[in-house]
Amino acid sequence: MAGNIITIDGPSGAGKSTIARLCALRLGLSYLDTGAMYRALTLHCMRKAVNLENPKAIAGVLADANLKVELTLDGPMRVFLGSEDVTGKIRTQEVTRNIHYVADVMQVRNYLVDMQRKIGETGNLVTEGRDQGTLVFPNASLKVYMFATPEVRARRRHAELKARGVDVSYEEVLEDVSKRDYLDMGRELGGLKKALDAVELDTSSLSPEQVAESIVKLAKARLKMQTRKIDKSLLERQRQAEQGK
Ligand code: C5P
Repeated sequence: MAGNIITIDGPSGAGKSTIARLCALRLGLSYLDTGAMYRALTLHCMRKAVNLENPKAIAGVLADANLKVELTLDGPMRVFLGSEDVTGKIRTQEVTRNIHYVADVMQVRNYLVDMQRKIGETGNLVTEGRDQGTLVFPNASLKVYMFATPEVRARRRHAELKARGVDVSYEEVLEDVSKRDYLDMGRELGGLKKALDAVELDTSSLSPEQVAESIVKLAKARLKMQTRKIDKSLLERQRQAEQGK
């Protein structure tokens, strides 16, 4: 591994994306959102009207998805199916609810793990997901496992969906969050768990800036990394681009 790789794993709604993006900006690293890769393949399967309960059928359309990601130092990560930019189209409730079918398929996981390792070959990456520190990059320079109570995560997700004009109750979101925890933790290959050598961070009562600051401090102390000042509006522009606004 040429440069540093920082892995951030944890359940949905723990704040991984915002925090990973902030850390990448501060440390001058690229940001890899592995959830977006699973989302894009799920969207592809839905468009192809694949029977999601049939793992073989899912594996069968993997290659023609022509999945690509584009990482930049200052911009958001973009996801493509062929030449179509689907970055803003993969965040719907339908995609979220169907992901587990696709993420459970062994061929899908092997395919994406290979792709992620290739991206990580040159290092200089903050990568975020469920299995980054345990399976994909077991030799990462710094591993973080981030969590928050299901209620806090559901409240955050509910506020986010409301802001996007999605009409959904807090109770429904809490149920979705709990179901996703159950499915993500129970997955045989690439299931969500803390790597033995990961630093644990409870984000329940901390802002994304506070959590990012503690990771940046760790990177500076342990990896002797340098930081740079960031323009706060850049993060907001990245977030909006990701939502397809
Ligand atoms: O991070 P995000 O919420 O976008 O991830 C969506 C889903 O993709 C997760 O709930 C999980 O099922 C799957 N995923 C995974 N492994 C990863 C990243 C995401 O299985 N490394």
